[in-house]
Amino acid sequence: MIFIKTKLRITCLFLFIQLAALLLCKGYQKKVTYIFQIFCEPDATSSSGLNHTASDSNGTYCPGTSILTGGPLVVNFPSGLILADVEKKNPLVTPGGCYSPPDCEARHRTAIIIPYRHRENHLKYLLYHLHPFLQRQQLSYQIYIINQAGNHTFNRAKLMNVGFREAMKKEDWDCLIFHDVDLIPEDDRNSYTCDSNPKHAAIAMDKFGYGLPYSMYFGGVIALTPLHYLKMNGFPNNYWGWGGEDDDIAFRVLLTGMKVVRPKLQVGRYKMIRHTLDQGNAINQNRFEMLSKARQTWRLDGMNTVEYELITQQYMPLYTNITVNIGTQDGLHSHLSAVKK
Ligand SMILES: *[C@@H]1O[C@H](CO)[C@@H](O)[C@H](O)[C@H]1NC(C)=O
Ligand SMILES: *[C@@H]1O[C@H](CO)[C@@H](O)[C@H](O)[C@H]1NC(C)=O
Ligand SMILES: *[C@@H]1O[C@H](CO)[C@@H](O)[C@H](O)[C@H]1NC(C)=O
Ligand SMILES: *[C@@H]1O[C@H](CO)[C@@H](O)[C@H](O)[C@H]1NC(C)=O
Repeated sequence: MIFIKTKLRITCLFLFIQLAALLLCKGYQKKVTYIFQIFCEPDATSSSGLNHTASDSNGTYCPGTSILTGGPLVVNFPSGLILADVEKKNPLVTPGGCYSPPDCEARHRTAIIIPYRHRENHLKYLLYHLHPFLQRQQLSYQIYIINQAGNHTFNRAKLMNVGFREAMKKEDWDCLIFHDVDLIPEDDRNSYTCDSNPKHAAIAMDKFGYGLPYSMYFGGVIALTPLHYLKMNGFPNNYWGWGGEDDDIAFRVLLTGMKVVRPKLQVGRYKMIRHTLDQGNAINQNRFEMLSKARQTWRLDGMNTVEYELITQQYMPLYTNITVNIGTQDGLHSHLSAVKK
């Protein structure tokens, strides 16, 4: 027993040194220490924030493959649906959009991170489908929306960096799913857990004729462990507007010696809720030039440089609403007057 513990500690120490070497960047040491704590000393996790639903289970793990999951799903959009209906259908979900299986110990702890602004209708349908889907997989999970305050151009990748940091502050998630608000999974076998390499889950969207639009495509829904995420210095913070950031993220995966894994084409199917390109998310005209520099920029811009201000944090019945000021191209405070505190 002592031997195993010692071995674990040595492994952890080794991991820690590796990570520290990787991330000895501006102001990052504290976070590394934190990650170290949550990986190697589970008891040391911060007591702030929500208490995750204590499972009433007697310590028996859930089966390796849930018997509650089926195959293809029918995805519909009932008219007149309201969030109160979704709450009624999911009585075991606790404030903040948290859940743990009631009669067994979950094998996986998954945080769903949704970059977000002004999409109430999409969110409603996503929650309607996603909560039961995750429960059938017997995951311990929480759904976070990362809501960009103000009306400045949308920045999806930066919001995902914020989501990573805020979610990891509170829980020792072993998998983070970065999820667009308008994509609904269409197959129960699409497991919202992490692999040994970063996983691209949304590989077959109806919008693209249920195939990949191009072979490097890494958009829509991706699954990374905290270690994957930190290894690639998170995501870029400087992609304002539509497009390019998902390709930059795919580059980071390859540049850091990892690869992209994907489920089967029949399994990674998604239905996209139709919408027009929204205001405040104009096409990023610089995206190709920025992408061409990804090899130089990934170390300089990412989790080590993300800056934002938490405005509010609300534990809603079906999700946690984290509202943040992420500033503009000109910095965090250039538009502060536009973001009411
Ligand atoms: C979490 O649980 C501890 C004791 O189990 C309790 O003192 C604390 O108030 C709880 N926190 C919240 C946010 O419920
Ligand atoms: C406790 O574990 C047994 C199996 O070992 C299981 O049958 C029983 O349902 C569990 N009880 C609860 C409350 O989960
Ligand atoms: C953002 O835009 C909406 C309408 O598009 C407007 O009602 C709101 O006042 C604007 N907010 C700010 C902070 O400018
Ligand atoms: C999230 O919180 C912000 C700030 O309180 C609020 O304006 C926004 O409507 C909320 N969004 C959702 C989807 O709850």
